[in-house]
Amino acid sequence: MHAEANILTISTIDQMQQESARLLDAGKTIAFVPTMGWLHEGHLALMREGRKHGDTLIVSIFVNPTQFGPTEDFQDYPRDLDRDVTLAKSVGVDVIFAPEAKAMYDKAYQTHVDLEMLPRHLCGPSRPGHFRGVATVVTKLFNIVRPQVAFFGEKDYQQLVIIRRMVRDLNLDIRVIGVPTVRESDGLAMSSRNTYLSEEERRSARSLFQSLQQAQDSLAEGITVAGELIHGASEFIGSKPHVQIDYIAICDPETLEDVDRVEGPTLMALAVRVGKTRLIDNAILKPMED
Ligand code: PAJ
Repeated sequence: MHAEANILTISTIDQMQQESARLLDAGKTIAFVPTMGWLHEGHLALMREGRKHGDTLIVSIFVNPTQFGPTEDFQDYPRDLDRDVTLAKSVGVDVIFAPEAKAMYDKAYQTHVDLEMLPRHLCGPSRPGHFRGVATVVTKLFNIVRPQVAFFGEKDYQQLVIIRRMVRDLNLDIRVIGVPTVRESDGLAMSSRNTYLSEEERRSARSLFQSLQQAQDSLAEGITVAGELIHGASEFIGSKPHVQIDYIAICDPETLEDVDRVEGPTLMALAVRVGKTRLIDNAILKPMED
């Protein structure tokens, strides 16, 4: 454990548990932002929000191996703890918790948190085991950090819905707050994975957000049939170089079940491979008021 001026970096679970116990004994409230690091403005928005909600703001940085599939980018995922600590410090984070994978999952590890329905939709089918990995690590981090309030981005909408459901199902006494997606100036949702994109791929990547905006425009013109909106987005994104669409869905924002028509606030979510990089984005479509 060492103090970087006024930010504390903790790398062991024991020390984190001791620090949280000390804070809670002293009557402090803990706000928590879990991340996998390589921080960008999206993460920092969660932290700025967190700063407003607790006496102590704790951020975890942990590239969680169990949420990556065997052919995914766990090894390549960008990592730079010093850079992340500097950025976290700039937005007033008090404690960084950066545990080692072998401490989080010892050799005999065998307990997982699985949700029944929500992971079957959207990203679930193409990322088997991903949400089980996420739900499990977030539960572990909640138990170690013991926050009263935790922050998740709407960028990973399915993840946010899953965490909210898990917190209710398991009676965790934690308030979950969703934070709107932070975007680049051309609309691309910020993501640690954007760093993988070549210049040309980066241009194609704009089509994700543009297609969501176009769907909202079509809806404003009276097109409410989900299939038509999906078709429009699919044609538009599909016309760009280096893209391969994983899914485009229009669904109920709570159950994530597909809907046929947009009749109230409805989630449009998509995942697209641009080159080798899998990107996701989403928006809540709102039909015009009659
Ligand atoms: P990571 O991808 O690092 O994201 C950490 C948090 O930042 C998530 O809640 C995510 O939704 C949010 N976030 C990412 N990009 C954002 C953007 N452009 N705007 C707003 N919020 C954004 O999500 C994970 O890590 C992991 O699955 C984790 C929850 C830490 C569990 O391992």
